[in-house]
Amino acid sequence: MKNLSLAVIGGLAALVAVGLAVSWQPRIAPIDPPDPDSFSVESIARGRQLAALGDCAVCHTREGGTPLTGGRAMVTPFGTLYTSNLTPDRETGLGVWSFEAFKRAMREGVSREGDYLYPAFPYTAFTRVDDEDLRDLYAYLMSRPAVEADTPDDRLPFPYDQRQIMAGWNFLFFDKGPFQPQPQRDAAWNRGAYLVEGLGHCSACHSPRNALGAERTGKHRFAGATVDGWQVPPLNGDSKPAVPWTQATLYDYLRNGYSRYHGASAGPMAPVAAGLTQQSDADLQAMARYLATFLPEQVGDFSPEKRAVELEQRTYGTLQPVSGSGGRIFNGACMACHHDGDSPKFNGVRPSLAVSNNLYAAAPDNLLRVILDGIGHPARPELGYMPAFRNSLNNEQIIALARYLREDFAGLPAWPDLEFKVAKLR
Ligand code: HEC
Ligand code: HEC
Ligand code: HEC
Repeated sequence: MKNLSLAVIGGLAALVAVGLAVSWQPRIAPIDPPDPDSFSVESIARGRQLAALGDCAVCHTREGGTPLTGGRAMVTPFGTLYTSNLTPDRETGLGVWSFEAFKRAMREGVSREGDYLYPAFPYTAFTRVDDEDLRDLYAYLMSRPAVEADTPDDRLPFPYDQRQIMAGWNFLFFDKGPFQPQPQRDAAWNRGAYLVEGLGHCSACHSPRNALGAERTGKHRFAGATVDGWQVPPLNGDSKPAVPWTQATLYDYLRNGYSRYHGASAGPMAPVAAGLTQQSDADLQAMARYLATFLPEQVGDFSPEKRAVELEQRTYGTLQPVSGSGGRIFNGACMACHHDGDSPKFNGVRPSLAVSNNLYAAAPDNLLRVILDGIGHPARPELGYMPAFRNSLNNEQIIALARYLREDFAGLPAWPDLEFKVAKLR
């Protein structure tokens, strides 16, 4: 008996030892910060565009802080961690990181010191990025002004604070390696796949995650999720907006952060969309082409315009006379900007709520959040701002308004859990 337990303990110890040996990553020697003039102007400009696509500054900037100096809290189910300073500061940033160290972090999720990084940093997508793009990104980051900014300490409970455990996580879930083009697909599709699956890291938000925080695959890929209290809509066969997506409307949404047939990016998608507006037409067309292969295919001569006009006629044709408090609140608070017809566009776009994806969504969260918080950071300033109604409408009024929009605009039964949701989101 004693021998047996000794054997078990010995076996466990051996496993841990093997695990540690396999998971050990060397430290990469520090360098002197490279001279910004050693990078070409083209490489830096390209890196800037790639950084916008990869949302580096969206995550690596604290509220009100200098872009790329890090410190933003990322709240995960496993605890809170903080993004790091990506400026070339010697002590607190990437100053002493060689290109090799940067490349290893992006491709393998290991820091220069040899520590495992957590997948809140989307290296699981960035691993697909090719060498040339990584070089341009590096050139861009290393030519920023160095800013001293410490990264706050993580707040992760045991065992999640043990970075070594990521070796096991990577073994189970991390599909490492550059993008592999699919020869049976054309160049545009492959380009789109490279951008969406790589720097774009679209599935980091648009795919649900399993209990250990890994993106689910197969039929769950792009099936939608929840991020920071927002519903992330599905981008696969589960997508059921009033006007089905087409490659052309997807392109439009990616180009402008807004589609006349779907509405505006309002929450966590707005900064992502702002980064997309900086990409070339060809690249956004390629992304739309790739994404369209996940969506249900539209048959025949489907016209989004025709469908939208039908919906608007049905909706606006039946609204008068307005009955109930929801309708009166809409007339007083929303109609000035969201009226149909051809009144002047004095305030950016006027999303037509009769086609808004948010009114047709399975959950009311995004509609309620837009009403409570407004849109203060549109993807493009030209789209206009929407005021927040947090302080001018009480919960009862918001519930009446949401019920009215859902029933009279979308023609669907009201969401069942509005009371609970409004209270929670407020
Ligand atoms: C979704 C949020 C997010 C995005 C987008 C993001 N990062 Fe990060 N990044 C993080 C987090 C969180 C960490 C810290 C991870 C940790 O502590 O394990 C990190 C760490 C890093 C590190 C390691 C730094 C160090 O000191 O160890 C590098 C390098 C890095 N990111 C580069 C980038 C670049 C380049 C981009 C844009 C292409 C980018 N990140 C985009 C969240 C993000
Ligand atoms: C001052 C003008 C203004 C008022 C008043 C206003 N909105 Fe908006 N709303 C906008 C603009 C502009 C956008 C698009 C912003 C963008 O794209 O960045 C928008 C976007 C939206 C969106 C998200 C986009 C979409 O298509 O789903 C919803 C939902 C919405 N508004 C609902 C309402 C409701 C409900 C009210 C009344 C409580 C209201 N708005 C009042 C200007 C306004
Ligand atoms: C930080 C999380 C996040 C990332 C990364 C992200 N999205 Fe989104 N996306 C959202 C959220 C949340 C919404 C809906 C609410 C909103 O407007 O923010 C959304 C909405 C969308 C929509 C509208 C879908 C619909 O049916 O209404 C499209 C299309 C979209 N995203 C495409 C993309 C693409 C392409 C990428 C990669 C380049 C991407 N998203 C990356 C969070 C994200």
